[in-house]
Amino acid sequence: MVFTGAGVSAESGLGTFRGSDGLWDKYRIEDVCTHEAWLNNPQLCVDFYNIRRKEALAAQPNEAHKAIAELQQAFPNTQIITQNIDDLHERAGAQNVVHLHGELTKLRSENDDLATVPLKGWEQHYGDRHPDGSLLRPYVVFFGEAVPYFSVACEIAAKAELFIVVGTSLNVYPAASLLQYVPKNTPTYLIDPAEVSIHLTDHIKHIQEPATKGVRELVDALKKSL
Ligand code: OAD
Repeated sequence: MVFTGAGVSAESGLGTFRGSDGLWDKYRIEDVCTHEAWLNNPQLCVDFYNIRRKEALAAQPNEAHKAIAELQQAFPNTQIITQNIDDLHERAGAQNVVHLHGELTKLRSENDDLATVPLKGWEQHYGDRHPDGSLLRPYVVFFGEAVPYFSVACEIAAKAELFIVVGTSLNVYPAASLLQYVPKNTPTYLIDPAEVSIHLTDHIKHIQEPATKGVRELVDALKKSL
């Protein structure tokens, strides 16, 4: 199982959320990423995600996304779970990616969190409606909302024979708790250039490298073991 966060897309030019210069330094979560924000100022939410979509469209998958897709080709049982709303895993060739926090390439009905419609290009026009008649909103799990695919991710984690975590601060729950569902002796690698908050053991190793280097080296080593 591969579990990714914003750090896997950082070297594609997409900003991470936390830390200096992170997105949550420039925007307030409560202005753009909560249900209240959507009710109070939907245009601001739409604008925020239109910018994210524009940036994601202009970005290209990097060596880490490509290596993860290669890993899945070499080991077809590989499951990819991401917190990212960009589609760089898919554009690198990955299949069946589970997006815990939504997807920029889709919009959803205001009344049904899984009633999505595809969106071509970067621009959502506020006021457009879903076929069910309700307003369309970004297909993003806002803070405080349920994470519809979390139970799917837990089932995958519980069966993991190898667990690779890339570029996440493990700050946002329930996603961050996925590690607790992984069987105790499963070899686990955390690839992140920064310090990690997890207690490292014989089974949990920190590869303190940027994703493009750390993931590429790990995937090459795993492919050699075939
Ligand atoms: P964060 O911004 O919290 O964390 C990004 C992680 O990536 C940090 O640990 C960085 O050290 C690491 N990082 C930075 N550059 C890297 C690189 N080149 N290679 C590898 N790692 C790198 O992002 P997430 O943990 O993904 O949710 O954030 C989780 C959720 O919080 C997001 O999905 C989003 C956000 O609010 C919603 O919007 C609902």
